[in-house]
Amino acid sequence: MKQTGVIGRVPADQSRRMPKHGAGSTSESDGSSWKLQAPELPPSKMPAWGWKHQHNLRAPLRVTPPAHRTSSKVLGGAYPFLAETGDILTGAYIGENQLSRAPFCFDPWDAYSAEAVRSHSVAIIGVKGTGKSMLAKSWSSRLARLGRKIAVPHDPNGEWVKVAEYVGGTSISVGPGKAARINLLDEGPRDPSFSNEDWNQNVLQYRRATVKTIIRRLREGGNFEPVEHTALDIALDALRDNSVVTITQVYARLADPDAKLPAEVTEAGRRLAHTLRRMVSGDLTGFFDGPSTVAFDTSAPMMVVDTSALKGVSPEAQALARLATANWIRRASRGANREARVIVHEEAAVELLNDVTGGDGLADRVEDEKVARHLGTSNWYLLHRVADLDALGDRNSALHSRALGLLADCETRISYAQHTGEIPRSREILGWNDTQADLVRKLHKGEGLWQIGQDRVAKVRNICTDHELGVFRTDALGGARH
Ligand SMILES: Nc1ncnc2c1ncn2[C@@H]1O[C@H](COP(=O)(O)OP(=O)(O)OP(=O)(O)O)[C@@H](O)[C@H]1O
Ligand SMILES: [Mg+2]
Repeated sequence: MKQTGVIGRVPADQSRRMPKHGAGSTSESDGSSWKLQAPELPPSKMPAWGWKHQHNLRAPLRVTPPAHRTSSKVLGGAYPFLAETGDILTGAYIGENQLSRAPFCFDPWDAYSAEAVRSHSVAIIGVKGTGKSMLAKSWSSRLARLGRKIAVPHDPNGEWVKVAEYVGGTSISVGPGKAARINLLDEGPRDPSFSNEDWNQNVLQYRRATVKTIIRRLREGGNFEPVEHTALDIALDALRDNSVVTITQVYARLADPDAKLPAEVTEAGRRLAHTLRRMVSGDLTGFFDGPSTVAFDTSAPMMVVDTSALKGVSPEAQALARLATANWIRRASRGANREARVIVHEEAAVELLNDVTGGDGLADRVEDEKVARHLGTSNWYLLHRVADLDALGDRNSALHSRALGLLADCETRISYAQHTGEIPRSREILGWNDTQADLVRKLHKGEGLWQIGQDRVAKVRNICTDHELGVFRTDALGGARH
């Protein structure tokens, strides 16, 4: 058994063999007692017999218990919360576990392999300004240094651009006035594991599903009639030999179909074209209707889509932007291109709320979550409060339980400080006991309660270097006075 801890006195013959822990690590003058002292700490001023006070029971330790050497696993059981159990989690350094004072590291894939969690997904919940993004940035950039890939499909404040630069990744900016375009119907990098036929079929299906999602969203959840499905299939089929297919081409096909088509299909196609018209000549034009001018760089350690320029555009445009970037990343990391990748969902509740016109997006998300383990993706959802998920549909509705199910699928839940009024609801959903609820009540900025899998809990203070703080902080201008 690997011996990592010592309690009690070490017999003189053994103490000579004990490793020294720097100057001053064995400080008893008689040499028979051995105590650990970190070299950088000043030596204790307390006399060996204790302070000289009345009734202080001042006496040297006369008993000489035999030294016990034991594994850190056993020590963890004997001294819970004081000693780590030994099977500490590995991964990128995050900070200090304030329950055990041990360094805390975490990697979703390592934790999964160690059977500490059953999914790779992570929920980070806390009110504004408590350090959620700081944690996501420091953790992900350190994981990137360990070889994991990171993607941020929607960065509404443009705060990840500097992080991408810091780790040697790439970022693109989309929105009005930006040169980068992402084609909503882009087939993405070819998956070499597909035969030509299968790949064409896969691309066709993807385009069909995407156009349907766009139309549903523009119709605010309105359903498709059977004849409309037919009209769309015919239009997409006619374009299948084109190497690049755009929404503009689909619109043109639907608006001006083949003369030989039955009248009712022509009519249904025109109805779809009217809905899509907003994308090609209405208020949404120019964002996602042309060919892509950028490609997803699968080799970059971090890929960020800065969507801050979309602030102020219509909610539909924002929802379509999310769809475009999420699909873009999803298609680039499937099949033979898949690798362990963190996907950071900043403002996840807004994303889900936006997606739920019709429940379509949320269904996609839940579906994605189910296959995430096989794709090797670790989704990180940043949320302000658990109650945000309550806003998705009425209580007991299918939509609502889907939203809560998404949270339940996250086996790593990190709770940052929350408003007192929200603690009971969080407690109900996240299953805190009294001590844990009390702990969350007293959290400071940068501190979080980590619930890992079924039975591990840690209170972790996220520690960043000054240089990292300079790159990651979002309130650099906050205190500036001129
Ligand atoms: N671990 C930390 N160490 C030092 N400072 C921190 C830490 N965490 C957060 N801060 C400070 O708090 C500020 C806000 O943090 P952050 O942007 O991560 O908040 P947030 O929870 O993401 O807020 P929002 O919900 O508004 O996005 C940071 O800019 C930084 O100055
Ligand atoms: Mg943030």
